[in-house]
Amino acid sequence: MALPALVLLAVVAFAAALLWAPHAGRAAALHLILAVGAMPLIFGAMSHFIPVLTRTRTAAAGLLGIPVLALAGGALAVGALSLPELFWGRYAGALLALAAAGALLVWSRRRRAGMVGRPHPCLAWYEAALACLALALLAILASAVWPQQTIAFYRLHLHLNTLGFVGLTAVSTLAVLLPTVAGRPDPQVGPRLRRDLPWALAGTLLVAVGSAWFGPLAWIGGVLWAVPLLRLGASWLRLYRAEILALHGAAPLLAAALAGLALSMILGAMNFIPATGAFRATQPALVFVSGFMLPLVSGAASQLLPVWLRPGVQRSWHSGLRDSLGRYGGVRAALFCLGGVAAGTGHEWGLLLGAATLIWFLLQAGVALLQAFVFQKRNQS
Ligand code: HEM
Repeated sequence: MALPALVLLAVVAFAAALLWAPHAGRAAALHLILAVGAMPLIFGAMSHFIPVLTRTRTAAAGLLGIPVLALAGGALAVGALSLPELFWGRYAGALLALAAAGALLVWSRRRRAGMVGRPHPCLAWYEAALACLALALLAILASAVWPQQTIAFYRLHLHLNTLGFVGLTAVSTLAVLLPTVAGRPDPQVGPRLRRDLPWALAGTLLVAVGSAWFGPLAWIGGVLWAVPLLRLGASWLRLYRAEILALHGAAPLLAAALAGLALSMILGAMNFIPATGAFRATQPALVFVSGFMLPLVSGAASQLLPVWLRPGVQRSWHSGLRDSLGRYGGVRAALFCLGGVAAGTGHEWGLLLGAATLIWFLLQAGVALLQAFVFQKRNQS
């Protein structure tokens, strides 16, 4: 039940932060979404997927300590960013989250070493993502040692976390998840993931270092990142167009997430255009949240909640619940896209539209789960 609890925590944190955003500091609201909502969920999801990718036994219950440690770090970060008297919390929070990232990385390397044969190439993306997170948190700690470089370290932290930690995890998971959602495997997923990791990782590092110290490098990094995104998007349009354009299901949400990530990168790149003033209103971080994270988490949850709630043999109970969770997924995908574009171009209502769409999903999921469990009880009695 740990993973469904982490999904619930993430969705509630997202909705609360979007409603709180106009009143709270921007960094505090962003960390409620990214560090309290997303980071523990990503850690939980990785500890579910790493045994699958390495064909080893499922994780022991004790591993739940890692997302809990990350959650404590994220909560401290939010406290520190909203209350000046908790300034020290940014370093303590970074240390806790760093310990959690390090522990998961070490566990993953052990699983890799103990397996028979080669792991699925998605594992290398997860490990690269964890390494980016660790570097991003070290950047916060480094800002205490070299305060004159604080702005550069914060930029490094921002990009290593968004493109590196979340971006690498999301793109590799999406590449594997969409064929599963469509029920038609794509034999090119593995080779493409293997080929694309150097592009995405080099892109992340160049954007992070470039935005911190030398702008032109960030442009090169953005171009490198575009290669895997375009390759994945093109293959999806070729293979899964019908599922992506459907009214129901998780596929439209996963495709919207990929489009939202691409848009946030385009808006981020625009910020590096020398100050013409034309794009000053763009907010890549807000597109990242409302155009990418919201469809990503709600789409992935629609597909994965049934199996996380009841692992093992998949029966009609699972497909029934999946259908209920994905009902009108296509409409939600369009609303998330609209909200993302609006928020990213400086319109506050975009965040509210994202929050309202997410609350719709939350209510629909509540009813679907209630029905699934009541139906099960009636069948048993
Ligand atoms: C849990 C430990 C973390 C700590 C202590 C921390 C700390 C910080 C600090 C001090 C800043 C600078 C805020 C400012 O400009 O005043 C910052 C910015 C930022 N961090 Fe984190 N962070 C953490 C985790 C994360 C995670 C996990 C993510 C993403 C997955 C993230 C994404 C960001 C972003 C996007 C910004 C830029 C915020 C803005 O544009 O206003 N952080 N963080």
